[in-house]
Formats: sequence, structure tokens, C-alpha cells
Amino acid sequence: SNIPRFRMAVRSSAVSVAPILTKLKHECATPLPLLRHVADAMAADMRAGLAVDGGSDLKMILSYVDSLPTGNEKGLFYALDLGGTNFRVLRVQLGGKEERVIDTEFEQVSIPQELMFGTSEDLFDFIASGLDKFAQKEGEKFYLPPGRKREIGFTFSFPVRQTSIDSGILIKWTKGFAVSGTAGRDVVACLNEAMERQRLDMRVSALVNDTVGTLAGARYWDDDVMVAVILGTGTNACYVERTDTIAKLQGHDSSSGRTIINTEWGAFSNGLPLTVFDSDMDDASINPGEQIFEKTISGMYLGEIVRRVLLKIAEAGAFGDSIPEKLSTPFVLRTPDISAMQQDNSDDLKAVGSILYDITGVESNLSARKIVVEVCDTVVKRGGRLAGAGIVGILQKMEEDSQGLIFGKRTVVAMDGGLYEHYPQYRRYLQDAVTELLGLEISKNVIIEHSKDGSGIGAALLAAANSKYEHDF
Ligand code: GLC
Repeated sequence: SNIPRFRMAVRSSAVSVAPILTKLKHECATPLPLLRHVADAMAADMRAGLAVDGGSDLKMILSYVDSLPTGNEKGLFYALDLGGTNFRVLRVQLGGKEERVIDTEFEQVSIPQELMFGTSEDLFDFIASGLDKFAQKEGEKFYLPPGRKREIGFTFSFPVRQTSIDSGILIKWTKGFAVSGTAGRDVVACLNEAMERQRLDMRVSALVNDTVGTLAGARYWDDDVMVAVILGTGTNACYVERTDTIAKLQGHDSSSGRTIINTEWGAFSNGLPLTVFDSDMDDASINPGEQIFEKTISGMYLGEIVRRVLLKIAEAGAFGDSIPEKLSTPFVLRTPDISAMQQDNSDDLKAVGSILYDITGVESNLSARKIVVEVCDTVVKRGGRLAGAGIVGILQKMEEDSQGLIFGKRTVVAMDGGLYEHYPQYRRYLQDAVTELLGLEISKNVIIEHSKDGSGIGAALLAAANSKYEHDF
């Protein structure tokens, strides 16, 4: 083709490709004993994090959500969702037990890159103005009794130290966000200030993590949902915990005896099989040493790990004598690209070749393409299987405290996120690991269910449950 390419000849003939691949596969291997160890470590870290604040890598954040949706929720509610590559707004008319969701509408915009590195004011102004535009389009099919403020469930998918159901302080940004001036502040106050700047008269009734929104949304339809997991840009899990097992709880009483805990498992790091590609990526990241589980298993990073391996094997001559410059650009190869390559079942791996060429400038013959697919598979298999071990760790902890109430009956794990949704191999590896760890009998009781965009409705439901008005209409 006639696209100009810039090539650097840096191939070193001293190294060859095969040993690099062998070493990669060896270091990424996740045999059953390793998965067991990871699941056990996850359960142990959960306990340590529940005992005292700062007791483990896992923050085990109290969500202040003590009661889950019942189906009786009624009225008009909004939801806001900020957490990854997109920002979403939603409105829903809830009709109670019989009618459930009467009507719902939503809009989604991608977050401009510069806002991820800008100021807190700019980011929250963007959110408030998106909400304002959307709220103005409220049609007549939605009904709010006169004299009431529109109430919002705010899904904010970053680690937040909740101070109540409708307030919480940002601990730190994750997933590539580096907005200045938000860490240490109440994010609901940030949003309120932006809404005041726009003269937008709405009120946040619930501040929730996306995992918590997903759990609430899925539980609305199914009482057996006990855990929610996000596998998207980032990753995290929350679950229903008994308050009597939470030593650090002190003073926070829950009438139901239960509460949702946001584990922030992305920060988990115990016993993970890591490679030099992982540690190099971590060193170059904006949060070195943090979110190691997230960096090993979630969508933001899988493509980048693969790119780093490909660069290394390119230097060893896997793709001929030269290395296209694009292959040296961090994050050019995204997880959707490696997923697309893995869906190529053709004999000549034509799609692999063209994706590789379009994105990285690498020209490949069939044997090189086979190597590329193998690299993708190695990294994705490790990710999916470790995610499965994480889920089993949570279930194990719950089972230990409740003897039979998890494994002895149907238990649902609500799952959402683009990685899980769009990467069939990842999904399969995850399920395989869960089945291997739990055994066939028990794993039949554990249902991993895709709960698509459940967190929006979930946040609206939690806004309803924490509304300051009576909903008797
Ligand atoms: C990151 C955030 C966490 C969120 C997860 C999934 O790990 O810290 O709060 O739930 O991404 O979006």
C-alpha cells in the first residue's frame, strides 16, 4: 500500500522469538494451585480490609446501601454515570411492583481526552451541562408531582470513601484519569457546585460505585444476586455482607443486618503471576504500584500488555528486519483490537494481518500472525482466569461466614462491562476457572449473569430508596 511508514532498524539478531514466547507462557500460566492461592488470598485480604481501615490492599468500602431494591420503588428518577470512557445520563419512570420500569431513556457521550487530564471544575461542568441538556428533553410521558426536585442516582466509578449514602470523598483517580483538584473532595459537592453554576435545580440522593449500581439493578429482578462484578475499562466487585462480620463498622447500624461492600479489588496484588511486560507498563503508568489486579485483568490494559510483548518480539525479528514506529506508541493497540484478532477463524488469518497492519504498521506472514494470536491468547487467558479466581475468592469468604447459604443454593453474580461483553474467549476462560475451582456440582449453583447497563437503573433505584419525598402516587 502507499501509506508512508517510518521504520527504525533496531532488530537485534542476538535474541530470537521462541524463547521469549516460551517464557511469556510460562510466566502467565495459571494452573489450578495458583488460582486456588489467588482465591484464598482474595478472601484473606477481604477479611483484613473489613477488620480495620487500611488493613489490606482491598479498601472494602462501606456503601451505606443497607437495603436492596424491593420492586416497590415509584416515581421519576435520573441517573448519572461517570466511570470509564463514556459518560451516561438516564431517566426512568418507576411504577412499583406491578409495572416496574414504565419508561426509560438514556444518552451517552464519550469523555473528551483533555477532560481526563484537566481540572475538576471542567470535568464537573461537562457532566452538569450534559445532564442539563438531557433533562430539558424530558417529555410528557415522564411525570413528577409539582414542587419536587428531580432526584439523581450518581454512579461514580472510582474509589470513594463514602461518608453517607449521598456523599463521599474521592480517594484517588484510577483508569487513566488524572483530574486535578478532586482527590480529597466530596464528589457530590463538586457536582452540586457545577449544577449551581448552570442553575440546574436537581439533587443527588444516592452516590454509588458502578458495582453497587449493578448489584442493585440486577437484584431488582432477581433476589439471588449476591455479588456484582465489573470487567470493563477497569475492574471491581461488590457483594452483600453481614454487618456483624465487619469489625471496622463501629456505630454504623443497619436495620437489615446487611450492607453492600465495595471491595475495590482492582488494588489486589497478592500472588499474581506477573511478567516484565507488566512491571514495565506499571512503571510507565500514571499510578505506578497501584491497581495491579486491574492492570493484569481489565480492558484498559490487556491490549497494552500485548503491544509490549509484540514490540519485544519485533525487536527479535518476528516481523522482519524493521520495527514500525507505531508499535512503539503506548496504548495504540486496544483490547477491542486484540479481541477482533482472536475472532479470526480463517486459515490465512487475514483479519489478524490487516488489523495488525492498520493499527501497528506491522506486516506479517502466516507464521507471524499465529504468534500474535498466541500472545493475545496468553495474556487474555491469564486475565480471564484470574478474574474467575477473584470471584471464587469472594464467594468463598461469603460461604465461610454463612455455611451453605452461598454454595448450597442458587447464587447469582451480576456481571457488566465491555471486556466481559465483547470478548468471548475472556468470558470462557473466566467461567472455566470458576468451574475448575468450585467443582462441577457447586459451580452449577453459581450463575454468572450479564446484567447489561444495570448500574444506571440500579443507581436510579437507590435514589428512589433514599428519596427525600414520599412516593405514594
Ligand atoms: C476502577 C475503580 C472502581 C470501579 C472499577 C470499574 O477499579 O477504582 O471504583 O468500580 O474501576 O469501573
